[in-house]
Amino acid sequence: MTDRYAVIGNPIAHSKSPLIHAEFARQTGEDISYTAVLATRETFVSVVGDFIGQGGKGMNVTVPFKEKAWKYLATDIAPRAASARAVNTLTFKDGKIIGDNTDGVGLLRDIEGNLEFPVAGRRVLLMGAGGAARGVLPALLNQRPSVLNIVNRSVDKARELRERFPASENLSATDYTGLSGSQFDLVINATSSSMNDELPPLPKGMFAAGALGYDLMYGRGLTPFLEFARSQGAAKLADGLGMLVEQAAESFLIWRGVRPDTRPVMAMLRGEE
Ligand code: ATR
Repeated sequence: MTDRYAVIGNPIAHSKSPLIHAEFARQTGEDISYTAVLATRETFVSVVGDFIGQGGKGMNVTVPFKEKAWKYLATDIAPRAASARAVNTLTFKDGKIIGDNTDGVGLLRDIEGNLEFPVAGRRVLLMGAGGAARGVLPALLNQRPSVLNIVNRSVDKARELRERFPASENLSATDYTGLSGSQFDLVINATSSSMNDELPPLPKGMFAAGALGYDLMYGRGLTPFLEFARSQGAAKLADGLGMLVEQAAESFLIWRGVRPDTRPVMAMLRGEE
C-alpha cells in the first residue's frame, strides 16, 4: 500500500517538496505519495490530526509552523530539534508524533558536501535571529567554527539566541554596526530580507579572501545579499536550493531508511529555474 506523506505550511502552493520527494521515491523505488497541505495558525494542529487520522505516515513542516510543531504537536523530540526549538519533520508511528529537525544537517551537507567548504576553524557570520537562524545554529556550532557571530537588527533577539548556548565561548551576538572591522569566511543570510528584495545593513570589507556567501532563500536568482557578496569579492555564492534538497533527503532517510542521491534532483531543479 502506498504510504502517505505531505508538507504543511502557509503559503504552500509553490513548494518544491512534492516534486523532490516524488523524484526520491522514483529513484529508490519506495511506494509513497507526497502532497502539499495548506493550513492557518488556527487550523494547523487539526489539519495534522486529520492527516494522521487518514493514515498519514509523516509530514514536513515549513514556514510559519516549525516552532508550533515543536511546542504543541510532537510527543517525542529528537535532540537536534530540541536544541533548535523547531520541528520540520514529523513521523507518525505507534500513536506517537516524533518531531525532528533536518534543516541544520541539510545546510551543512550542502555547504560541506556539495560546496566543499568545511566549517571547522572558519569565521562564520549568521545573519538573522528568527526561526530560520534558530533552526541552523546548533548544527553550525557542532562543526566548531573558530568564531560564530549572530547579527540581527534587533540585537536583543540575537543576544537571547546566544544565551541559549552558554558553553559556546566562540559564539557572540551583535547588531550590524558592531560588525565593522570584522572579516568572515562564511556569511549566511538567514534573515527574511531576500523575500522583500532588501539588503541588510552589512558594512563593506567583511568578506575574507575565499569567502562563501550563502543565502537560505532560493528561487530568486541573485538576491541583494548575494549581489552585495559578489561586489565585495566573495569567492563563492550559493542560494538555499541545495539545503532544501538535502533537508528533504534527511527527512526521506528518517521515514524510509534509505538515503536518496540528491545530485540528480538538484540538477533537475536548477534546470527548471
Ligand atoms: P524566519 O522564520 O524566516 O527567520 P522571522 O522569525 O520573522 O522569519 O525572522 C525574520 C528575521 O529576518 C529577523 O531576524 C529579522 O530581523 P529583526 O529581528 O531585527 O526584525 C530579519 N530581517 C528581516 N528583514 C530584514 C532586513 N531587511 N535587514 C535585516 N534583517 C532583516
